[in-house]
Amino acid sequence: MSDLRRFRIGVLGSGKGSNFEAIAQACATGIVPAEVALVLSDCPDAGILARAKERGIPARYIPPGPFKTKLDDAAERAYVEALQAAAVDLVALAGFMRVLKSTLLNAFAGRIVNIHPSLLPSFPGLAAWKQALDYGVKVTGCTVHFVDAGVDSGPIIGQQIVPVLDDDTPESLHARIHAAEHELYPRCLAAIARGQVRVQGRRVTFQRAA
Ligand code: GRF
Repeated sequence: MSDLRRFRIGVLGSGKGSNFEAIAQACATGIVPAEVALVLSDCPDAGILARAKERGIPARYIPPGPFKTKLDDAAERAYVEALQAAAVDLVALAGFMRVLKSTLLNAFAGRIVNIHPSLLPSFPGLAAWKQALDYGVKVTGCTVHFVDAGVDSGPIIGQQIVPVLDDDTPESLHARIHAAEHELYPRCLAAIARGQVRVQGRRVTFQRAA
């Protein structure tokens, strides 16, 4: 068993890294049959880098270049090289605040996933929990999806519902969505690592475990 190669996940994040933590913990306990092989960030002080180092997981800041919402070409190539050098099977975005372009999308075609804090296709983009609250929906949640060239638009792998309460503030709703993310993301990654996930066009289905 021990000589079997483990499924390798590269995590990209710009923020505090609570989803990374949930993923790494689920890998450590065997709930996700995989390992986090590498963490990359576009922010030198991101909490996700510190959390990875605490766990002994290789973690690097790679400068994003001059743009605010995407990586420049050289930076995208540097991310690809780092992920390929770490032999990752899957790239998991966890609060990575930049849109990916073709260099990364082509290098890991069909092998990049993201978590978004709403029930897509509702409320793509920034501060989705606040969009949901302002709109007045009674339920929202989170979505794990494959990444394509659009913003939060790729095929949906899994979703978890979070009710909107009458006394919710953006902060309280965001906190409950975050807690749901920490359950949903490892669950989806476990299914991918086990080879249970099938994609046909926009439809993603799960094969039962043997
Ligand atoms: C999460 O809410 C995720 O849905 C969004 O960015 C946030 C990242 O949070 N894409 P964290 O850094 O994992 O705590």
